Amino acid sequence: MLVEPNEICVIQLGMRFNVSVMGESRGYVLEVFDSHFILPDLGPIGANGLANPRDFLSPVAWYEDREVKGYEDHSPFDVVAWHGNYTPYKYNLKNFMVINAVAFDHADPSIFTVLTCQSTRPGVAIADFVIFPPRWGVTDNTFRPPYYHRNCMSEFMGLILGKYEAKESGFMPGGCTLHSMMTPHGPDAECFEKASKEPLAPVRVADGTQAFMFESSLSFRVTDWANKTKVDENYYTCWQPLKKHFTQPTSSAVQAQEGPSKKKLKKVIVVLICVSLKNVHYHWNRVLSGFALCDL
Ligand SMILES: [Fe+2]
Repeated sequence: MLVEPNEICVIQLGMRFNVSVMGESRGYVLEVFDSHFILPDLGPIGANGLANPRDFLSPVAWYEDREVKGYEDHSPFDVVAWHGNYTPYKYNLKNFMVINAVAFDHADPSIFTVLTCQSTRPGVAIADFVIFPPRWGVTDNTFRPPYYHRNCMSEFMGLILGKYEAKESGFMPGGCTLHSMMTPHGPDAECFEKASKEPLAPVRVADGTQAFMFESSLSFRVTDWANKTKVDENYYTCWQPLKKHFTQPTSSAVQAQEGPSKKKLKKVIVVLICVSLKNVHYHWNRVLSGFALCDL
């Protein structure tokens, strides 16, 4: 199986495999110790969308006839055919059918899930493989880059191609970021300023790039080697230039926040009482009919 840049491959539990590379290569590996990767439930999307089953490819039968050290007089890859559906497979990320918000606000990032490995708790993933592919940004009245957030999943992000739109400097292809669960994070200051001032016309997002995320309900442990040699000690400084943009509210805005004047409030209270009397009446009727039913 030949896996090219911007493709992923899944090797199932218990399979023997080896990896050969052609020239200098880098890649990311995610190993799970429970369950299997599957396509996410599409819910209201329906039958088609996101990663479509037709785009997943499995290798054809093949064999090699040579002696391999540790296997006496044969190769572990001397199988000429197989029957079944437990196979390795690959998928080209360019085939992902992106779904996104087209009016305002953000859809949950789960719309970018390619594959998920579910735990025994419904809706909680051991690992999700999520991508942020080239797409259109069209939403109105919305800060379009990923919002500032903290959540109950650990997020390991990597970059396969190009520049990630929420952090254009300091995050190169082959690099990674890790935001462990409940750690606040979001776009860097440069991205915030740019996206806050840009006119909200339809624009292409992430052309020529491919960022991805391994998201897990578990915690990732960073090895001593990575901690000592690979951590960017200055990562936090990408948020330090974020400026306050608060302004003193105008008197009319203060009034709107404080709510209606006392005169108007009286009317509101009267209306609310009427509504609740109506409700009481309605419920009382229901209680009575309940008794009537019991009598029957
Ligand atoms: Fe995040």
